[in-house]
Amino acid sequence: MSLFSPYVLGDLRLANRMVMAPMTRCRAIGVNVPGPLSVLYYVQRASAGLIITEGSQVSPQGVGFFRTPGIYSDAQVTGWKEVTSAVHRAGGKMFLQLWHVGRMSHPDYLSGSLPVAPSALPVNETIHTPAGKKFIPVPHALGLTEILKIVREFQDAAARAKEAGFDGVEIHGANGYLLDQFLRDGSNHRTDRYGGSLANRARLPVEIAEAVVAVWGAKKVGYRISPHFNLHAMSDTHPRETFGHLADRLSKLGIAYIHLVEPVGGKLGAVTPDAQMAPLIRKKFDGTLILNGGYDKERATRVIEDGLADLVAFGTPFLANPDLPERFMRDAPLNREDMATFYTGEEKGYTDYPVLGG
Ligand SMILES: Cc1cc2nc3c(=O)[nH]c(=O)nc-3n(C[C@H](O)[C@H](O)[C@H](O)COP(=O)(O)O)c2cc1C
Repeated sequence: MSLFSPYVLGDLRLANRMVMAPMTRCRAIGVNVPGPLSVLYYVQRASAGLIITEGSQVSPQGVGFFRTPGIYSDAQVTGWKEVTSAVHRAGGKMFLQLWHVGRMSHPDYLSGSLPVAPSALPVNETIHTPAGKKFIPVPHALGLTEILKIVREFQDAAARAKEAGFDGVEIHGANGYLLDQFLRDGSNHRTDRYGGSLANRARLPVEIAEAVVAVWGAKKVGYRISPHFNLHAMSDTHPRETFGHLADRLSKLGIAYIHLVEPVGGKLGAVTPDAQMAPLIRKKFDGTLILNGGYDKERATRVIEDGLADLVAFGTPFLANPDLPERFMRDAPLNREDMATFYTGEEKGYTDYPVLGG
């Protein structure tokens, strides 16, 4: 068994165990529609066992970045169809990441409305808007009817993702966005059925997972978590209990995978062995476990051989190396990523990274 051996995810056969991690690239055109450049970008990376798209908003209220694609309009479905058809023709498999940023937004993105969250707590950070950096206002605490609407929006978006030809969907429950905000007690101070107890804080993530499973079937649905993520004012007093509980609930639902983001160093800090979440999530969750965060070929091979993970996701290595599986197979040198063009530059830093022999 190696990174290059095939793997059956749910009922989908993947050519290898290397997943392209979801990455926002801010190259959408029109009203948040993936364009021809995005078709090329994803096709170039079709040798991944599985591609997970950049976060894609389930509704206009879920937007918190510029030029990020959505999955709530007909034009977006049409744009994504071009992407999935081309990736499938190139032999790739692809899941769409369903995203709602919650409080990580600004009225400039929301026709003047406040960003939404479980509770009206300040983030005390600035955010990039088309008019420059702006302070994130204290969000509007969602009412029960509004929460139900968001569940329906995730379900509708899941249906549109199916129409757009994806092989499945990943629910973005990580990185301090809406579902993470509901799950963790630092950002959720509610006293109704969506807050307080652990079961209540996990209610929205689980209800959304159920709604998406109703569209796709459990085997085509994944869920991303980042228990160590502490930017954007995110915190939890008992992360092992919190994320262990969620993994248990998702396991009972029978979803295909959990995608666990581990600390990558830098601001997010290094993971000490006793703080490692992977063994806990592995124990609690019966399906496939995808690990991500600072992996190279050696570390990825080791966690697969040790049985700690089934698949490993690579973010920046895939961003800078469209032919990453081939480079790993041949032990070829890697291109370095250019951070200056992560979120800007059209084809520069997007579709112009060289392949071996190219
Ligand atoms: C440019 C960029 C955009 C990202 N956008 C997303 C995103 O849309 N959704 C998400 O879940 N994670 C996002 N991430 C996090 C990556 O999926 C991944 O967790 C992170 O890069 C660590 O993996 P790596 O060390 O292999 O790069 C992004 C990371 C980068 C570098």
